[in-house]
Amino acid sequence: MRELSVGDAARRAGVAVSALHFYERKGLIRSLRTAGNQRRYAGDVLRRIAVIRVAQRVGIPLEAVRRAFSALPDERTPSREEWAQMSAAWQEELDDRIKQLVNLKDKLTECIGCGCLSLTACALANPGDALAADGGGPRRWTPPLTPALRLLRQQRGKT
Ligand code: FES
Repeated sequence: MRELSVGDAARRAGVAVSALHFYERKGLIRSLRTAGNQRRYAGDVLRRIAVIRVAQRVGIPLEAVRRAFSALPDERTPSREEWAQMSAAWQEELDDRIKQLVNLKDKLTECIGCGCLSLTACALANPGDALAADGGGPRRWTPPLTPALRLLRQQRGKT
């Protein structure tokens, strides 16, 4: 198995050494120790860091990443099937993010039902902020949750 020093892992992953320590404290990556108590990382840490960085870039909370990584083995390099299992468990989170990003791209210039009433279109799309009755946030981006979906999200630690 390929092993990397802290410096090599940071350099190849394109992150600061302090980021590796941070990810480790958060339980996202794991290091081994040499006889001299130096950190060593298994090669698959680079793939994990790549996933963490992309997730951070699109606003996925680190806790969601940690939960997804819990499907992967700590003691050896994950197989293709294990990465697939992780991604399946993460499907809902990724689908939500993709919808939000598509909405952001397509509807940034339209009324999103956020309550600001700052665009001319708001008078028609959200007269007097009528959409506030459906809940907080941009109502045209976040349709009301069904009771079952609300319970599921609460159980998964989402608000
Ligand atoms: S954009 Fe905020 S209420 Fe229309």
